[in-house]
Amino acid sequence: MSKSKIVVITSTSRHGRSGRKIADWYIAEAKKTKVEAEFELLDIAELDLPLFNEPMSPMMGQYSELQNKIAKVIGGADGFVFITAEYNHSIPGSLKNFMDYINAEWHHKAAAFVGYGSTGGIRAIEHLIAILAELRVASVATGSDHIHINAPWVAFDENGIPKKEHLHGNIENQLKELVWWTNALKAARS
Ligand SMILES: Cc1cc2nc3c(=O)[nH]c(=O)nc-3n(C[C@H](O)[C@H](O)[C@H](O)COP(=O)(O)O)c2cc1C
Repeated sequence: MSKSKIVVITSTSRHGRSGRKIADWYIAEAKKTKVEAEFELLDIAELDLPLFNEPMSPMMGQYSELQNKIAKVIGGADGFVFITAEYNHSIPGSLKNFMDYINAEWHHKAAAFVGYGSTGGIRAIEHLIAILAELRVASVATGSDHIHINAPWVAFDENGIPKKEHLHGNIENQLKELVWWTNALKAARS
């Protein structure tokens, strides 16, 4: 079986956001682990998506050009790592808007989570797991499988790396668990 492809997805789009540097850091750390997987970044800010306004429900699978573009990336993935900020005790609207664009391409895949905020984004992660259940994504959701970055506004050193005292969780352990699921689901899908 070929290596699982893990797409690392950002959640925010504002100027000056922390999300992109966290995603870049995560992918660099993931590549240092012994976990056998490919990692690819999907920065939703780069898509510059309008608020979802497609004429057909994504459940119908009749996609526009823009939906096809997203479907290609999500459809080509075996699993996801969401880098989610916490906005008003949930995920940012920009992430929910992105997720709403397509449907079937999410199905029967697995996800793990990096949360950041005043309490490590835990409330956002919990909401995200509930949303993913509707999209038939299996969440690696034991608390110890999450990565948390507390107080992101002061958490990074000059190289964009989270300081130890702001970081909770172990990326290698998280990815081992995620890739167990992505490999199992990949075999099942085929
Ligand atoms: C609109 C908004 C709402 C926020 N609400 C929360 C919140 O409910 N809980 C929390 O821990 N942090 C909250 N924060 C702080 C963010 O977690 C923090 O600013 C983080 O860096 C945002 O991600 P970003 O930099 O990628 O945009 C909020 C920030 C914004 C901009």
